[in-house]
Parts: sequence; structure tokens; C-alpha cells
Amino acid sequence: MMQILRTVAELRTRVRGWKADGRQVGVVPTMGALHEGHLSLVRAAKRGCDRVIVTVFVNPAQFNNPEDLAKYPRTEAADAALLAEEGVDVLFAPGPDEVYPAGFASQVIVSGVSAPLEGERRPGHFEGVATVVTKLFGMTQADRAYFGQKDWQQLQVVKRLVADLNIPVEVVGCETIREPDGLAMSSRNVRLDPLSRAQAPALHRILQKAAQALRGGAEVAPVLAQAVAEVKQAGFSEVDYLELRTAAMLEPATSVAQPARLLAAATIGDVRLIDNIPV
Ligand code: PAF
Repeated sequence: MMQILRTVAELRTRVRGWKADGRQVGVVPTMGALHEGHLSLVRAAKRGCDRVIVTVFVNPAQFNNPEDLAKYPRTEAADAALLAEEGVDVLFAPGPDEVYPAGFASQVIVSGVSAPLEGERRPGHFEGVATVVTKLFGMTQADRAYFGQKDWQQLQVVKRLVADLNIPVEVVGCETIREPDGLAMSSRNVRLDPLSRAQAPALHRILQKAAQALRGGAEVAPVLAQAVAEVKQAGFSEVDYLELRTAAMLEPATSVAQPARLLAAATIGDVRLIDNIPV
């Protein structure tokens, strides 16, 4: 039966028991409001590990916009029911004081890969992510950790910090799960009004079309300019970025000779969506 734990001390006791029995522990870090995308990570963890912890913590440190933090959906009872059904062993749902007790003064800063794109538009975001993920690895002592490729830059930041800080966890990146019309699943999708929801899948469609043109040898700059124009025509009010970047370092890519990724962030209604695909 799934246990819901709220303190690091309780979690440590549980994990210590598992490790003493030689069990491999997997963790799926989340901020709750779970959807099929999260559940696909849970299923991957179940396949790859003997015991699975899902963490649900809406991390204030990674929200650069207080309104976004206030509006972030919180659905713990429904999340717990879904996770119990998936056969998760522990739902770890600490409160903010457990994660950031009085006197907390440390920060994990990953330079390079966290600087462009989301890093530029959301100052402090990746410091918040890197710090909480490092803490969750310390708290859970997991052998494997599962992250979605939808947050591609986040995945690269986490891989970098794990390598740099010698954290003994294997980071597993899992495919983006999409709605049948192509919209990448996201906890923010519930905030889309019906018109925006109908228009939102255009982002993925346009990325796919651009990727196909690039694979066919088209020049990068005009393809990207055309894609930005199409995203705006499709009903998005703002395109924060739509760029071709090297897959691991996220440096600007001027050709698809090396592994590259098309990444975009755009706002529709009052919801900012991100998506990315390989090229
Ligand atoms: O991707 C998320 O949901 C969050 O950024 C994470 C990894 C759980 C850290 O708070």
C-alpha cells in the first residue's frame, strides 16, 4: 500500500529499509497536478526499479512570477489516488518549511546550459530547480530519477549538476506524452480556455513542419522566422523564443549536422506553453 510521507526523517527511514534489502530505488520528482505525462514517468520508474517514490512539491524557489505560483494547480487528493493505482510505494509531499527550514542559505547554480532560453526569460528559475532537485536526490537517495523531455532544458541542467556534483543517481529522460492532437501534456493546460485549447496544438505542428524543412536541408534563419510568424497567426499572442539549439549544451545551432533540438515558448490566452522536438 502506498504511504504518504511528509518529513525527510520518515522518508530516510523507509529508504534505509529498502536499501538494506538491496532494493533499487527510483524517484519521479513532480509538482503535482499529475497527468498522463507524469504517469508515463512513474511507469518507467516501476519498470526500472524495485521501489518508487514520487515527490510532489510546488517549489516556490523556481517561480520567478508570484502570480504563476499562486495559480499553479494543486490537486493532492487526486494525485494520491492516481499514484496509488500505479502501485507507487511512497508519495513524498513535504511542506515548504520541511524543504526550506529557517536559516536555509544554499543554492545550486548550473552555469552554461541554464543561461539561455528559459534561463533568460525566467531569471532564477533554474537555480530554484537545480537546488530543489539536488535536495530531493539527497532526501530520497534514489538510484534512478525520471524526468520528462518536455522540459528539455531542465533535463540538461539536471544531467549537468548530477555529473558536476558526483551525485550517484542515473538520470533517465522520457519521451514527451502528447494529447491526440499533438499538444504536449502539461499541468498548465487546464488553464487554457476552450479557444486557446483548440489553437494550442499548432505549436507542435509548426515545430514539426520546421524540423522537416531543416532535415531537408533548408536554411535555418528563414525556416525559424516563418515558424514564428505561423505560431502568431495560429493565435499565440507572444513567441518568447523558437530556436534551433545543440541538443546537450543548448548552444545556437546553425545547421542540423550535429544532434539538434527545436525549442519554443509561446503564450496563448494567458498561458505560457513550452515544447521541443529533435531535429
Ligand atoms: O518539472 C518539474 O515538475 C519541476 O521543475 C521539478 C523537477 C519537480 C522540480 O521542482
